[in-house]
Amino acid sequence: MERFENFCGRIQRMIADERTITRKIENGRELVSELVIRPDWFFDYLKKMILEPSSFESRSPGIWPNEYALYRSPERSFVVLAYIWDAKLADIIHDHGSWGIIGTLCARLGERKYERIDDGGREGYAEIRETEHKVCGPGETTFVLPLNKGLHAMDNPTDGIAVSINLYGKTIRQGYIQFFDPEKKTVTRAFPPRTLKEVLAVKTLAAIDPSRAEGVLRKALGTSRPPQLIEQYEAALARIRGK
Ligand SMILES: [Fe+2]
Repeated sequence: MERFENFCGRIQRMIADERTITRKIENGRELVSELVIRPDWFFDYLKKMILEPSSFESRSPGIWPNEYALYRSPERSFVVLAYIWDAKLADIIHDHGSWGIIGTLCARLGERKYERIDDGGREGYAEIRETEHKVCGPGETTFVLPLNKGLHAMDNPTDGIAVSINLYGKTIRQGYIQFFDPEKKTVTRAFPPRTLKEVLAVKTLAAIDPSRAEGVLRKALGTSRPPQLIEQYEAALARIRGK
């Protein structure tokens, strides 16, 4: 794992030194490429996970079930995640809360990039168009920009396991990402499992008994909640008042 620790140290210094996202991505792609071209350190990580599972239990799950959190910088300037892609696995078209670099460590990974062509003015509605399709082999990287500038979907086109190592910069939108459906022309929020349970609970209270729900939602809003949840509480209250 020494190679991985060195990588994190170099990324930390590079991100502190470079001013623009363009330069961070340019330099970051070289460093990620060097890291993924020799996958022995990732074998050691998996070995530890299998033989010492207790050291991994406290980590809270992310949105994607195939995600492994490898490192979070203490000052929150970047995270490094691994994704293990089972044969033919494909993700949903999505955006990101930060810039990111995706390097293929094992097998091949496909990427389709999209651009948003509507103005985003209609809640839940989105029109997108595919702009690029490529396949990255071991050591190759691709990148995304934050929010609407980085819409993409990744997939494993092979019949075996593929692995990507993803580096993400400082988050500018916390707590959720957006899923896009080009056929239905929809955009929906996707939350990590713990947040999703609370979001669904909020909606369900109002569906069962709106008058009692209002009191509960107001009480919850009086306590500390992250912004992405406050939005959900306020939307639920607005729906109750609108009935
Ligand atoms: Fe992504």
